[in-house]
Formats: sequence, structure tokens, C-alpha cells
Amino acid sequence: MISFQLMDKPKLECLRPDSSSVLTRRQWIKLTALAAAGMLLPGRRAFAAHPGNELRLPPIWDGGPLTAEPGHVEIWPGRITNALTINGHVPGPTIRLKRGDRFDAEIVNRLTGEDLVLHWHGLKPPAKFDGHPNQSVSPGQSYRVKIPIVQDPAFCWYHAHTHDLTASQVYRGLAGAFMIDDPERDAVLGLPTGSRDIPLLIRDWKSNPSFALTYAPSMFEHMWGYLGNTILVNGTPDAWLSVDQGTWRFRLLNACNARVLRIGFDDNRTFHVFASDGGLTGMMEPVTAFDLSPGQRVEILASFDNIPVGGSVSLRSLFFPIAAPAGGPAGPRQGDPLPIMTFHIDQVGISDPLPTVMPAPDLPDELLSRRTRNFNLGVVNGQHTINNQVYQLGRTDFEVPPGEIEIWQFTNQTANHHPMHVHGAFFKVLSRNASLPTLPTDRGWRDTVTVFPNETVRVAIRFGPRPGLYLLHCHNLEHEHEMMQNFALLDPVPPPLDIQQGESQVVVSWPNPSDGWVLESSDDLVRWQAAEGEPQAVANRLEWWETTHAPSRFYRLVMPANL
Ligand code: C2O
Ligand code: CU
Ligand code: CU
Repeated sequence: MISFQLMDKPKLECLRPDSSSVLTRRQWIKLTALAAAGMLLPGRRAFAAHPGNELRLPPIWDGGPLTAEPGHVEIWPGRITNALTINGHVPGPTIRLKRGDRFDAEIVNRLTGEDLVLHWHGLKPPAKFDGHPNQSVSPGQSYRVKIPIVQDPAFCWYHAHTHDLTASQVYRGLAGAFMIDDPERDAVLGLPTGSRDIPLLIRDWKSNPSFALTYAPSMFEHMWGYLGNTILVNGTPDAWLSVDQGTWRFRLLNACNARVLRIGFDDNRTFHVFASDGGLTGMMEPVTAFDLSPGQRVEILASFDNIPVGGSVSLRSLFFPIAAPAGGPAGPRQGDPLPIMTFHIDQVGISDPLPTVMPAPDLPDELLSRRTRNFNLGVVNGQHTINNQVYQLGRTDFEVPPGEIEIWQFTNQTANHHPMHVHGAFFKVLSRNASLPTLPTDRGWRDTVTVFPNETVRVAIRFGPRPGLYLLHCHNLEHEHEMMQNFALLDPVPPPLDIQQGESQVVVSWPNPSDGWVLESSDDLVRWQAAEGEPQAVANRLEWWETTHAPSRFYRLVMPANL
């Protein structure tokens, strides 16, 4: 039960302060005048007359604490919905940072009787800040995360990952967008930025008379997933966005618990997919539809220049066939069509030429892989399993040496989809059933790959140098707590140092690139200090030297904490 502890300070959250659904006559006249004078920005509420609700944009995170607590939000106009909120919002604030920034936040658990940990899906944090379920804190407690942003720009997200509660807490609202941006790069490439760059967190909701985000799966739904019958985009039902005829960038996240979306426009128009979970794919891929599984992200360019002003077009999830499970509920099943949102073309505009040069990601080479691991996805005694095992919080299922490329092979022995997700590393999709992957959502660096019923998918995964405990799991959140494994990324082994002692100088060298190793020196093997000055790249090595009078000085490479 969600408590009403906030009743003493009634809070009817309007998710977007400037989007009240009822305008006073004075406001209406003012808006009309502004619109006539051309003073309203595209996408702003120049046109209030569309049916449904204007797309909400969660507030941008202000750097303060992120507090999870039960609250009341206005999702359907005029109705109060019980939800779990982050800083009073569903979805939570959007975190926007740049490469080189440091994400430093206090996470506060003000839930009622529920532990909490947040996971940063798509980031590469040190293991201790990754949001493993064993890092959950009790109600009333808080913890601090410090994550240096060292990866390429990407559209990521964050969500609850509490032991045995992920599905329930995410469904009730504990999720938000996390964008790693580089507006300068995007401007150079010719990608839309600012108000033409719109995140769309898409999730489904199972309608009920009390308009609550109530999570109450049946036995059947525990097996097949908790599927809703309505879509919320950024927490907006029947969402619409006022656009011009130009080119728009949409960042799409499937934040559903279990629903696979086959996304396309209702006029079957062509649009372009250019980014994946881990950033740019290196191409502008024309598509009319693509499959997006829970946890996956894609960025698209869409242009509306062939629609007359006053027209509209809708984004929908299209039908796809799946062997119908027996005995299920009558409501929309996996693969059933659902409307997502509508774009109203309210102003003239000119679409930009498509960017022609897209930097290609540096994907791992299959030939350099050191080993293959097999993961059989099955069902044993009504529970979802990996290699016939159900997840156990305290069991480490396998160990991975750092800095290596491995082939992971997923074999789906069930009749359901399993979007397989890895924490702390990205991968390249190599094949589906031994053929080259053809899905737009297989391009680039991925952290989540859909394994369709009875399919075998191979990926090449590259591990970084940050040791610790990470997770592999199905992102159908009804499966997650069972179909999950712990793996330990082992301590990195420093590359060998070459030390040349001359008459008056010592030259220390090691392989380049060094993956973040830093040289230290010591005279007594007890007190170590960082070597002064930067090493120089010489051929394929890094060289560092000093003139020294100490006949016995020691050197070592260390991996700085929190790298
Ligand atoms: Cu988005 Cu471990 O999950
Ligand atoms: Cu993740
Ligand atoms: Cu699954």
C-alpha cells in the first residue's frame, strides 16, 4: 500500500509548470496575440486546442538530492494518481551532463517500508555506485553516488534496482532520463539540439478505476510480463506535441516493464535511426519501423515537411506476431498495436539536409575475443532461468578478466522475448541465428539486446578496467529477479614495466594506450607517490624518465580509485 503521508501538505503536481490544461480568458488572449506576433517558440503551447494532453518534459535535475517518496501526481487531467516519485515527479528529473563532468548526488529513500537503490542504466560507473541490489538502503536512509562521466554522449536512464522490487518500483514511477550531451559536437554534425531534441520515455500502463500506478501482477503476468493497455510518454497520456515542418530529433526509451514496442508512424513514413544505447551508430539508417525492447534506447531524426500545416501524424506501436500464450488475460497482449503520441504540424518549417558524416563507433573485433560464454535462457519449474539457475543475491556466477573482449551467446529456449542487459559494459551484436543482424536496434554499442523466441544471439562484449560485481539480466522486469546473474570483473593486472637504469637517469616505459594506469614511485616500498610529469608516447609505448641519484627507487602502475 502506498501511504498518504503527504496529505498534510497536499501536493497536486503539475509535471510541467507552464502547461495548465485550463487557460483563463486573459491568458488565452495573450497567447493568441503572442502566436500572431510569431513570438512563441516551436513546440511551446501556441496551439492549445489539440485533443489529449501536451507532452510533458520532466524538469532538469538541479544538482540536489534525488529523493524517492510516495506522492500524488496529476497524470490524467483533474485526477490524482498515487505513484512513487523522484523529487515529486513521474518520471523523475532528467539528468543532463557532459563528458568530463562528475555526477555527484545524494540518493534519499523516503519510501514507506521499502528498500531502495537506483541503477544508472547505460553509464559505466565504478561497481560500488552501479546500483547493484546488494547496495539497497532502508527507508529513512540515504547514500551518495559519485560517477565520473567518461563515456561518449548517449541517451541513458536511471531506475530502481532494489532486490526483488525492481519491477514493482519502476512500474509505480521510479525512473527517469539521463542524457550525456555534447551540443558542440552535435552542432558540427548537423544534429538538432535544444528545443528540437526531445526525450520520449515510453511506458505502458494498465488502466484501473482508481487511476493508480498499481502493480498487482497475476501468476500469468509474472510469467509473461505486466503489460498495460495505454501508453504514457514522459508521464503524459494521449500525448501530443506541436511541431513545425522541419527536422526533429527524438530520443526514445522503452521504459515499459515487459512490452516490446514496434515503433513507426501511422502514415508509414520513413525516418532515420542514428544512435543506440551507447551513442552514435555511425550511420543514418532509413526505416519505417523498428523494435524497441524494455531498457533499449534509440535516437531518430524525423521530418514533417510533407505534411501541410494543420495536419498531424501519430507514432504508434505496431502489431507483431507472437505465438499466443494460452490462458492469458484478454487485454492487449505482447505484439498488439497501441497509439503512442501525436505530432501536430502547426507551423511552416524547412527540413535540414541529413547529416552526411557520422563518426563510427570503435566496436570490438570478434577475432580478438579470448573466450565464448553460453547463456541458455529457459524456464525451470515455472521460474525464468539462465543456465538452469535462478538468481541468488549472494552467489557470484562467473568471473571476467578485465580489459578483454568476450563472445557471449544467448540461446532462447522459451516462447517469450528476453531483452538481455549487461551492467558496466557495452557490446556489439554479431549475429542472430548465425545470420548478420538486420535490426536497427542491433547497431552500434548496445547494453541491451532482444533475444526473440527460440533465437540464438551472439555479441562481442568489451570490458573496462573497473573491477567489482556487475549484473547480467533480462530487462523484462517480471523476469529480472530470476533471470539474472552476478559476475565479478576481476582486478586489473597492470601491464609490465620496463625500467632502464642509466648513469644519471632512469627511463620507465609501458604499453600505450595504458587504459588509465598511472605511474607511482617509492624509495621504501611503503610510501608511494605519483610520478611527476606526464609520460611521453614513443612508438607504441609510454615513456617517463627522471634524473635520479637514488640507486634503488621502485616504480609501479596503479589504477586510480573511481576511474
Ligand atoms: Cu535497466 Cu539492471 O537495469
Ligand atoms: Cu543497466
Ligand atoms: Cu525475460
